[in-house]
Amino acid sequence: MKSFKKKVAVITGAGSGIGRYLAILLAKNGADVCVCDINKKTLDETVNILRKYNVSVSSHILDVSNKESIKELPKKVMEHHGKVDMVFNNAGVNNGSHFKDMKEESWDWVMSINFEGVVNSTRAFIPHMINNSEAAIVNISSIFGIVAVPGQSAYHASKFGVRGFTESLALEMKQTNPNFQIHCVHPGHIGTNIAAATRISDEDYKKMQEMNTRSSFFRRNQPKTHQEMGELFKKGGMHPSKAANIILNGIKKNKSKIFVGLDAKLLDLSQRLFPNHYHKTWIFFVPLLMLFRNKKPLKSID
Ligand SMILES: NC(=O)c1ccc[n+]([C@@H]2O[C@H](COP(=O)([O-])OP(=O)(O)OC[C@H]3O[C@@H](n4cnc5c(N)ncnc54)[C@H](O)[C@@H]3O)[C@@H](O)[C@H]2O)c1
Repeated sequence: MKSFKKKVAVITGAGSGIGRYLAILLAKNGADVCVCDINKKTLDETVNILRKYNVSVSSHILDVSNKESIKELPKKVMEHHGKVDMVFNNAGVNNGSHFKDMKEESWDWVMSINFEGVVNSTRAFIPHMINNSEAAIVNISSIFGIVAVPGQSAYHASKFGVRGFTESLALEMKQTNPNFQIHCVHPGHIGTNIAAATRISDEDYKKMQEMNTRSSFFRRNQPKTHQEMGELFKKGGMHPSKAANIILNGIKKNKSKIFVGLDAKLLDLSQRLFPNHYHKTWIFFVPLLMLFRNKKPLKSID
């Protein structure tokens, strides 16, 4: 897909972070956008930002884990925009506790949004895009869909799942309609609200930090509360506008795997070179990466 002009793009989780900037950059490039989020307030903020672009915008309060709501979405998009060219399955959450301490509901919450949400939406939209001369489904996994750390088992299961699902779908689609692009995105650390929105009590957060402190030297200067961690996470990562820009460039170049950030690329490399011991290599480059974060917003974003 060489241009986004006059395309219709659906973006889930567009009320914040990467999803919001995908919507802004697509609108800036002349695409009509359908933005969806579970959070009405932040979704309305995104819609307000999009008003300054001369494109058609529709918005839906939507929980991607709700199969029935997702099933109804393509019809609504077709009614408003007349077609759909691109779907960004971006909505995502994290819980963050060791598996033995994790409540079953907490596991189900992460899997139902991060994994089932992606599958539900892909299933719902494919029939409406399969005969397009150009189409793209963009599933947001993570570098945590490639390497694993402790305290993230649900997140890893969901993101490794998205990767497997998307890679298989991409191969199938090459046989069915080679113009239908399927992308799997692996961001590294992006400075968004995802850590602040993590469902974890301060007590569980402390417990997890204590467990991880014994096993990793990186934890020594870690934040003491979940809230503090959320703020630091947002400040420390690549600006989400830059992440969105990298994703859109990857789509233009038809890259089936899109790595976002040097951290994502290096962690992927460590896993390929040292599949059994990749964690041991991180000590050499993770501290360096901390110094070279792309924290400033994209220049073309005001
Ligand atoms: N920030 C990072 O470092 C990072 C790294 C790798 C992957 N990712 C992935 O990128 C995607 C975007 O995350 P972000 O970092 O921009 O986070 P974010 O918290 O800023 O945005 C996520 C959005 O998803 C929405 N959402 C949550 N549950 C939903 C549901 N059930 N239905 C619909 N919307 C829902 C939230 O309201 C929020 O607006 C996620 O899939 C995340 O896992 C993020």
